[in-house]
Amino acid sequence: NRIAIFASGSGSNFQAILDACREGRLDATPALLICDKPGAYAVERAERAGVQAISFVPKEYGDKAAYENAVLHQLQEHKIDFIVLAGYMRLIGPTLLSAYKNRIVNIHPSLLPAFPGLDAIGQALDYGVKVTGITIHFVDEGMDTGPIIEQVAIEVAEDETRESLQKKIQAIEHIFYPKTLHQLFLNKGEKIIR
Ligand code: GRF
Repeated sequence: NRIAIFASGSGSNFQAILDACREGRLDATPALLICDKPGAYAVERAERAGVQAISFVPKEYGDKAAYENAVLHQLQEHKIDFIVLAGYMRLIGPTLLSAYKNRIVNIHPSLLPAFPGLDAIGQALDYGVKVTGITIHFVDEGMDTGPIIEQVAIEVAEDETRESLQKKIQAIEHIFYPKTLHQLFLNKGEKIIR
């Protein structure tokens, strides 16, 4: 499977995916990084790993469809099979959704459907939940909706801080994103039923 990773920020999940591919734990070719924030650290990670990175500035396009058509053109040029969202801070629109139906995956730092959207970790802490976690799911037109592929629960400690919780969540994400993608590709993109 040739995958394109979409990232807007630091790209630590992107890095975990690159490492897993290199080490043979994830049977996929990370062919492309798509970034909507030209200065993002994810771009540097791609360059270091010899993965082609393409940065877009969405507001340079007339509308979302024009932006996504430009992205889609690159995905087709690079014969991309799957889109993997890793901290991509933008809703996927109809152009990409219809071209990659059931072939776009996202990771979110909460147990969905709890705490979708921005700052899921802060939302969970403010709410005072005792258990939170991560969700890996197929992307549909909603914000952090779509069929769930995998979830992992994480306990919130008595003295939990945003920093400590974020650290725990990231560590779990870095293990489970590559692992779940590997399983998904073994299943030829069919949702894992268990
Ligand atoms: C992760 O927590 C992921 O769940 C969320 O955005 C964050 C991205 O972090 N969608 P990074 O850029 O991979 O470090």
